[in-house]
Amino acid sequence: MSSVPTGTAPGSAPTRPITVPDIRARKRDARRLVMLSAYDYPTARLLDEAGIDIILVGDSLANTVLGYDSTLPVTMDEMLHHARAVVRGTRRALVVGDMPYLSYQTGAGDAIRNAGRFLKEAGAAAVKIEGGRRRADLVRALSEAEIPVMGHIGLTPQSVHVMGGYRVQGKKSDEVRALVDDARALQEAGIFALVLEGMPAPAARAVSAAIDIPTIGIGAGPDCDGQVLVLHDLIGLTEGTPPRFVRRYAAVGEVIADAARRFIADVQSGAFPSEAETYQVPSAVPRPARNHEH
Ligand code: KIV
Repeated sequence: MSSVPTGTAPGSAPTRPITVPDIRARKRDARRLVMLSAYDYPTARLLDEAGIDIILVGDSLANTVLGYDSTLPVTMDEMLHHARAVVRGTRRALVVGDMPYLSYQTGAGDAIRNAGRFLKEAGAAAVKIEGGRRRADLVRALSEAEIPVMGHIGLTPQSVHVMGGYRVQGKKSDEVRALVDDARALQEAGIFALVLEGMPAPAARAVSAAIDIPTIGIGAGPDCDGQVLVLHDLIGLTEGTPPRFVRRYAAVGEVIADAARRFIADVQSGAFPSEAETYQVPSAVPRPARNHEH
């Protein structure tokens, strides 16, 4: 492995891009992995410069940006459109494309073709798929096609109708055992990291201890090898009360609304644009009066 460090202190010179083996090697690292979702060029650039390890072009795109009420409607073409923009804004972080509903559940051929599009057409380095041991064969097929796969178990939003809502998983001991079996089966099939979503801390701790690849938690407590949040939750750009596991670091929604309100007021009062914000010609043509009479 290269001796060039992959860590960056925010504001320091960029180091080499983070690779899939780098992420795999971060199991039980003192520096926990940090992943955030992003869906566009400027956000990806800001997260990358801030020193994020992994940018997930999540199918949460459906809710956060496209206004759907679940992740089910978002299509492969929509995901690729956003993944391409994210890759253009990223120099160092590992970009992972989230496989949308029905892009892989229909079989290995579809899964390879669609996952391959993330690598071939968007420039992502890996894909993420939801589901436990029943996805093991699919993970094997993708790995054989040279496509690195991140797993995702626990509360898997694409299973919302099967679960009967967005329900925390792994509350009972038999459910914890099932999660551990899922994680082991996916690891054995070849995933390089595993998202644990919506489960009590003891369940996530048991899964994290049972496998040799990093776990990345969301609503799964502190004992994972890393943490992920949906960016729009973190920056206060989602509607309503955020879930219990979200920490809000900014109120960007309020900043945007306030800027829009002030712009509206300035245009309506005539305060915008000012002389300084207006192109002039060398020999100034007199401006007609705003409400001149004929
Ligand atoms: O789509 C997404 O943003 C995700 C994260 C919640 C892990 O899958």
